[in-house]
Amino acid sequence: MRVGVIGGGLMGSGIAEVCARSGVDVTVVEVDDGRAERARAAIEKSLGRGVRSGKLSQQDHAAALERLVVTSTFEDLEGADAAIEAVVEDETTKGDIFRRLDELLPDARFLASNTSSVPIMKLGAQTKQPGRVVGMHFFNPVPVLPLVEIVTSIMTEPETVGQVRGFAQDTLGKTCIESQDRAGFIVNALLIPYLLSAIRMYESGFASKEDIDQGMVLGCAHPMGPLRLSDLIGLDTLLAVARSLYAEFRDPASVAPALLNRMVEAGLLGRKSGRGFYDYSTS
Ligand SMILES: NC(=O)c1ccc[n+]([C@@H]2O[C@H](COP(=O)([O-])OP(=O)(O)OC[C@H]3O[C@@H](n4cnc5c(N)ncnc54)[C@H](O)[C@@H]3O)[C@@H](O)[C@H]2O)c1
Repeated sequence: MRVGVIGGGLMGSGIAEVCARSGVDVTVVEVDDGRAERARAAIEKSLGRGVRSGKLSQQDHAAALERLVVTSTFEDLEGADAAIEAVVEDETTKGDIFRRLDELLPDARFLASNTSSVPIMKLGAQTKQPGRVVGMHFFNPVPVLPLVEIVTSIMTEPETVGQVRGFAQDTLGKTCIESQDRAGFIVNALLIPYLLSAIRMYESGFASKEDIDQGMVLGCAHPMGPLRLSDLIGLDTLLAVARSLYAEFRDPASVAPALLNRMVEAGLLGRKSGRGFYDYSTS
């Protein structure tokens, strides 16, 4: 099987890595050669970590790299059996990708989006095959977290759901849950208001960021506090999901705090930019 992954950022590179490790040929498309090179380097680095930690043999490492193609030419996706889109959380960009996928892959088993918030139906509507368009929502870091949310639009065909479930579970070894096409799906509808309230708590001077995070780690056995988790997700992604939740439900709990807006405007996007609530420039 050959899968196309569009976007090789945080999520796309993780998805591509998991595919390659699972015996799937994978072609990653990025916007330009520089980004493509960065995506390849990120995947190689993560595979290298797998070897060092003893989870991946040298032989499997080499085989995974052989299955991986990273390119800046969209047409290199031609002939792929399925596609997973993981570009920036922007409806126009994603819509454009789905129009191009529709033309290039008329016989794909599924055209999936890893979107956290764009309605799957809006992406399906850009194609002549909305029955094969589906949400396939992975979690970060993709090689570590076992969950995939399968999101069905009102047009997604049961056969498509079967294909995606089979691929995610049997080929990639993930566990699937199924959600209808509502902003936030299952996990983010619960998680995002919690993260926003932690940011509001910090913004108000109520408590320090360290104490907020420690409170949830030591008091609730969460593996990571909400501000550190926000940094890991990416503050731009968090803001985009908050906006789509608010647009759909008008729930004040989903209003982005001013501090989050200012941080994104300043380019403080969390771990991926080197600084968010915490400084990662030396890690
Ligand atoms: N970060 C998370 O924790 C998380 C979790 C689940 C889902 N998601 C979703 O995954 C998607 C990607 O998020 P991310 O965190 O990887 O973002 P990111 O900013 O790390 O990566 C996005 C990548 O898309 C590339 N890109 C933009 N336009 C493109 C195009 N036209 N063609 C090819 N590549 C293009 C960019 O160059 C960038 O490398 C978003 O829809 C996001 O909501 C993110």
